Amino acid sequence: MSFKIAVLPGDGVGPEVCREAVRILRALGHFHHSEFRFEEHAIGGAAIRAHGTPLPQSTLDACLSSDAVFLGAVGSPDFDHLPPEERPEGGLLRLRAELGGFANLRPAVSFPAIADCSPLKSSRIEGADVLIVRELLGGLYFSEPRGFDKNSDVAFNTMRYSRREIERVARVAFEQARQRRQKVTSVDKANVLETSQLWRSTVNQVAKDFPEIKLDHMYVDACAMHLVSNPSRFDVILTENLFGDILSDEAAVITGSLGMLASATIGGKVDLYEPVHGSAPDIAGKGTANPLGAIASVAMLLRHSAKMPHEASDLETAIRQVLEAGHRTSDLARPTRGYVVGVREMGALVEQAFVGMLDRRFSYHAV
Ligand code: IPM
Ligand code: MN
Repeated sequence: MSFKIAVLPGDGVGPEVCREAVRILRALGHFHHSEFRFEEHAIGGAAIRAHGTPLPQSTLDACLSSDAVFLGAVGSPDFDHLPPEERPEGGLLRLRAELGGFANLRPAVSFPAIADCSPLKSSRIEGADVLIVRELLGGLYFSEPRGFDKNSDVAFNTMRYSRREIERVARVAFEQARQRRQKVTSVDKANVLETSQLWRSTVNQVAKDFPEIKLDHMYVDACAMHLVSNPSRFDVILTENLFGDILSDEAAVITGSLGMLASATIGGKVDLYEPVHGSAPDIAGKGTANPLGAIASVAMLLRHSAKMPHEASDLETAIRQVLEAGHRTSDLARPTRGYVVGVREMGALVEQAFVGMLDRRFSYHAV
């Protein structure tokens, strides 16, 4: 098997965490009779500097002809003065639209080994394991009309959803719940917004095809509160684009650091994998970034795109083992415990643990 991955390091800590993600895939390629091929391309601020645009045509073409896309991060304060579509983030939004993935999966899991990194009491986050399914191609991010009339000092955006757009992402959420704890919480603002009323009625309709899944509905403001007061009440959270953006950063508090969060965007022509943490310009280039969100995104790639579920689970176990052994990047460090490591060391530690497991898996198969 040959599997082509377009790697888009992007800005800030993006290149540092991508290097560690690629390291893991190379190690796996060595064991498996599979070959991962990597092609690096520019996106975001790095692409603006090199090509004058945040999403060069050559990058887009390479992504569309790959088996999966792996992205580090985009965003840089150097481009804050530009209009939205010309900024680094504009490149990512166009890429998402062109790839067509409408369902963005963002798991947030509490690992006991780093429970003390969360500002929340360990007793509250114990056992929390939430999957946010965020609609990624509609709502305020993409709907027209939108505009900024500088003469009259008025700006506006539109939140528009069609039944079809809601239905397709709802199906993904129910299918995910089937493989988990059989529960979907659909999050909206149906007491105020018409789009949410359509959202709710569509989700209720889709639920009829999944009688074994328990469905409840929650307003987004209440969800924001429950996520930090009682996160273990949730299994799958299904929500629209902007609500999902906000709630997924909030859910990072369960894990202890935004650096832990992975994501997969599925349902389009080519699936897209990216850690949630963003470019973190304050620590870029210092070698202190946390690569675990990126490495956990590799696990999602192995599961969803490469169809290697065992290796995906092994990689997740490797991450857990390294944390249990006490290794911490600085975002997870506590003054009294743990060994503080840099981005490369953390990548190497996970690789080592992962390779150990692959070794056992393959020698077992050999006998
Ligand atoms: C995310 C990010 C992006 C988003 C930005 C960089 C456009 O915050 O993936 O959560 O808002 O979707
Ligand atoms: Mn975000």
